[in-house]
Amino acid sequence: MKFRTRTSSKYPSGEAFDERYFKTGNYVNYLQRKYDKQAQELIQHFKLDENSKIVDFGCAIGGLIRQLKARGIGLNGVIVGTDISNWAVQAGRDMGGLDLHYYNRNLLTLKPDLLILLDVLEHMPDDELRAVLDIIRENPPKQALIRIPVSAKEGEDFVLEVSRNDKTHLQVHCKGWWIDKMTEANLTLTETVVWTSIYDSNGVLAGIFTPTTSSINYFSHN
Ligand SMILES: C[S@@+](CC[C@H](N)C(=O)[O-])C[C@H]1O[C@@H](n2cnc3c(N)ncnc32)[C@H](O)[C@@H]1O
Repeated sequence: MKFRTRTSSKYPSGEAFDERYFKTGNYVNYLQRKYDKQAQELIQHFKLDENSKIVDFGCAIGGLIRQLKARGIGLNGVIVGTDISNWAVQAGRDMGGLDLHYYNRNLLTLKPDLLILLDVLEHMPDDELRAVLDIIRENPPKQALIRIPVSAKEGEDFVLEVSRNDKTHLQVHCKGWWIDKMTEANLTLTETVVWTSIYDSNGVLAGIFTPTTSSINYFSHN
C-alpha cells in the first residue's frame, strides 16, 4: 500500500520542531505539560522498577522520563530519550538530570524493556519511518507503547481537528494501516490502551505492541 504523506521541506533537520512549535498552536506551552499521571500509569501497567530499560523516542523535553526517573525508575537500568528537535533537547538538558540525545536512532538498538513512541511516528517522512521500523525489527524491544493520531478510513484526513491542525504531521492513515505497518517492525498489537492519561479513541490509536515472534512462542508448547 502506498504511503499517503504530506511534505515538509524542513524535515529531517528538526527545524520544524522549534520553540514556536512547542509554545504556540496546538501546545500553547509544552513546558507546562504535566506527566505525573502518565508516569504513574506506565509504572503500574508495565511494572517498571529501578532496573528497567526505557527508551523514549521523540521525547521532546523529556517530561515523561523525568517523571519516571523521579520515581526511581531505570536508575540501575537505562532511562534515556531522544528527539529531532534541537530546541526541545536543549530545553530538557537545561533542566538537568536527564540523558537526552539529539536525533539518535542508535538508541533503538538497545532492545529496551519499554520503547515509548508517543505521537512521533506520524511526523516522519516515508524513508525515516521505514528506517526506524527496520531498526526496531532488528532490535526488538520487549514492549512498545505507541500512540498515533489517525483517520477513520485510509485516504481521509485525521479524525481530530487538533491532529489536522498540526502541519508537521506527515503520515495520515487509519488504524488498520498502522497496525499492518507495524508488522514490518515485527510488532503485533497485543493490547489497546484505555488508561486515564493515554487512551485509544476514534481519532487515536493507542496500544501496546510486542514482537510478533515472541507472541507466537508464547502459545507454543516447547
Ligand atoms: C507531538 S510531539 C510528542 C512529544 C512527546 N512524545 C509527548 O508525547 O509529549 C512530537 C515529537 O516528535 C519529535 N520528532 C519528530 N520526528 C522525529 C524523529 N524522526 N526522531 C525523533 N523525534 C522526532 C518532535 O521533535 C516532537 O518533539
